[in-house]
Amino acid sequence: MPVRMAVPKETISGEQRVALDPTMAERFTKLGVEILVEKGAGLSAFFTDEAYGKSSRLVDGVQALCAEADVVFKVQGPTLEEVELLKDGSVLLAVLSPHRNPDVVKRLRDKKITSFAMELIPRISRAQSMDVLSSQAAVAGYFVALRAASLASGFFPMLTTAAGTIRPSKVVIVGAGVAGLQAIATAKRLGAMVEAYDIRPAARQEIESLGAKMIDTGVNAAAEGGYARELTAEEKQKQADVLAKHIAAANAVITTAAIPGRPAPKIVTTAMVENMKRGAVIVDLAAESGGNCELTHPGETYEHNGVVIDGPLNIPSNFPVPASEMYAKNLYNFLSPMIKDGALNLDWDDEVIAKSALTRDGQVVHEPTRKLLEQ
Ligand code: NAI
Repeated sequence: MPVRMAVPKETISGEQRVALDPTMAERFTKLGVEILVEKGAGLSAFFTDEAYGKSSRLVDGVQALCAEADVVFKVQGPTLEEVELLKDGSVLLAVLSPHRNPDVVKRLRDKKITSFAMELIPRISRAQSMDVLSSQAAVAGYFVALRAASLASGFFPMLTTAAGTIRPSKVVIVGAGVAGLQAIATAKRLGAMVEAYDIRPAARQEIESLGAKMIDTGVNAAAEGGYARELTAEEKQKQADVLAKHIAAANAVITTAAIPGRPAPKIVTTAMVENMKRGAVIVDLAAESGGNCELTHPGETYEHNGVVIDGPLNIPSNFPVPASEMYAKNLYNFLSPMIKDGALNLDWDDEVIAKSALTRDGQVVHEPTRKLLEQ
């Protein structure tokens, strides 16, 4: 019998994405598996039941769906109630954020569910096409640039009109990872003068290749796996001194700096905000993990001293169509090499499979999460 893979409707408030779009659902069925989709699962991402129905079986209600499912695809990790619906021994793929949901991890373990936390996929070249952090960060970077442009008090491009010439906005982007680079590209396309900063020296080439100017603070904090490490107090001060000048001159500041598994580094201080021009804006993409600006209120947009501070949450959900399509493609690229004639055979010798597993055979196999649960 072919393996049954199921797509429930996302339940977290405001989540508009769906884990599989109709195109990827069809691609999976071509591998011989059966795809089950909860009725209405794709509607918030504008994918109709009819579109799924061409290749997949529609099921009424999440309970009936999960009762049949050998594999469940989700975007957000399940709630405790949703874990109870999963069949013992089934497979789950989602962004599980284990450090935030220890009780969910324990239930997944006890129900002997093989769970993959998609955000744990190792950052090696071969896994780039499976990397949900990258795909969703690209969507987020595009969004924050548009958001900054719409909240700013002036135009991003230079405009020459009969009523005179208007100077382009100066945009400072802090953090030039996947999201930051997309924000740079988008702000450049809108015609802004863009300066960017990252503590990884490798970012310079990428920033410059997009036509932006690198802000050089003299701090280098590259760490393993292409990520950044936390800065020392001395390095933080050095960084702050240089950045403060650039931020004071900016019409818009977009912050995207993150350190995996840790709260977002505080980079834009209250004093820096108070030195900014009235009418300037800060869009803080890192609001989800506490924010890069001391004054960010996650989920809120407000004004401080004439500066608008915006802390959007669950940003990729704002563009549910491409975000879902890219997420679905990541899932397909991850799982399809292990599907033969409708059967799923997980290859535990594959580094990507082994390192992204969270629970398996009644154990928490992700070391940092296991240690966290033992505390
Ligand atoms: P991220 O979301 O963890 O962090 C965003 C950016 O913030 C990073 O560029 C980081 O260097 C920067 N940052 C951290 N602390 C900072 C501070 N105090 N001041 C300024 N900037 C700070 O990173 P993301 O975007 O997920 O990826 C970072 C890098 O990882 C990529 O640019 C790439 O080199 C590598 N990567 C590799 C992949 C692969 O090979 N499969 C996939 C995706 C990324």
